[in-house]
Amino acid sequence: MISIGVDTKQRAYDVLIGSGSVKDFGRLISEVKKPCKVMIVTDDIVNGLYADKVTEAIEKSGFTVSRFVFENGERSKNITTYANILERLAQEHFTRTDLIVALGGGVVGDVSGFAAATYLRGIDFVQLPTTLLAVVDSSVGGKTGIDLIAGKNLAGAFWQPVRVICDTDFLSTLPDERKADGIAEIIKYGVICSKPLFDIFASGRFEEKLDECIAECVKIKSDVVSRDEFDTGERRLLNLGHTFGHAIEKASGMTITHGYAVAIGTVIAAKTAENIGISCPCSQDIIDALKKYGLPVSCDYNKETIINYALTDKKRTGVDIALILPEKIGKCIIYPIPIEKLNDIVKL
Ligand code: GLY
Repeated sequence: MISIGVDTKQRAYDVLIGSGSVKDFGRLISEVKKPCKVMIVTDDIVNGLYADKVTEAIEKSGFTVSRFVFENGERSKNITTYANILERLAQEHFTRTDLIVALGGGVVGDVSGFAAATYLRGIDFVQLPTTLLAVVDSSVGGKTGIDLIAGKNLAGAFWQPVRVICDTDFLSTLPDERKADGIAEIIKYGVICSKPLFDIFASGRFEEKLDECIAECVKIKSDVVSRDEFDTGERRLLNLGHTFGHAIEKASGMTITHGYAVAIGTVIAAKTAENIGISCPCSQDIIDALKKYGLPVSCDYNKETIINYALTDKKRTGVDIALILPEKIGKCIIYPIPIEKLNDIVKL
């Protein structure tokens, strides 16, 4: 099992990655938590696939387990799901020493983490990511939250898990589109800071190195989060493709998934960097890599629509918005620009 430490001011914790680890989930959780009540929060798809196995493994270590299941998909990452989790925790008399276990992808992790951050002003939670996207990105680093009608992730909290454990066998049931969502995030890491990682994916030969690639992404994320837990500096680089990506998700009524939107957003960022002359051209390399995995590289929305939605993004500060733009594969910069200049520089 690969173990990667994440060191934050809130707490230090490990991300454990390994095939066949589900049978050890109870023991691995009991290393960081005494037997207590556990609420497994999951979605209806993961519930059918893995929740029984996970429950059995956790109960074996002396935990008392209940379950909260909601409908799969980004549309569930809302205030109603969040409130329903809190009400269930209260009805079942969960206390500050009890535990939430997020079993699923990014939506499950984000909404459960936000419930953990706020129930009784904060209880512990463990992330058990079941998607590639969640294990390489959203389960690590403590960003939790929900979407509002006005935009994605507009309410939330930084709340670090006490442990993250991924059984990579869970990834084998992912449909190709969901696997591609994760690959878009991995390609994003490559463009931000690792040309070797980008090259592995650009070559299309990642399957035999999947565990190492996942570990490399988690290591990159862990290092960045340890230096900038609260997203005021370097961590913003991890948002490459996200300002336009979130705008595209929102414009589509959440029918375009996060990874697909990030893929398109990364291409827009690369073309925009070329448009303003800060980059040695790399948009075609990014397009070629994304296309290998059936990821989209453009969309039907026009520039005005995308910019309007982008303006609800969290990265907007007063009159400026901080774009993350690639200078070359393996190096990105934070590029704050006045909002009124967006239309001139953005290139779709
Ligand atoms: N997903 C980007 C971050 O966690 O900062």
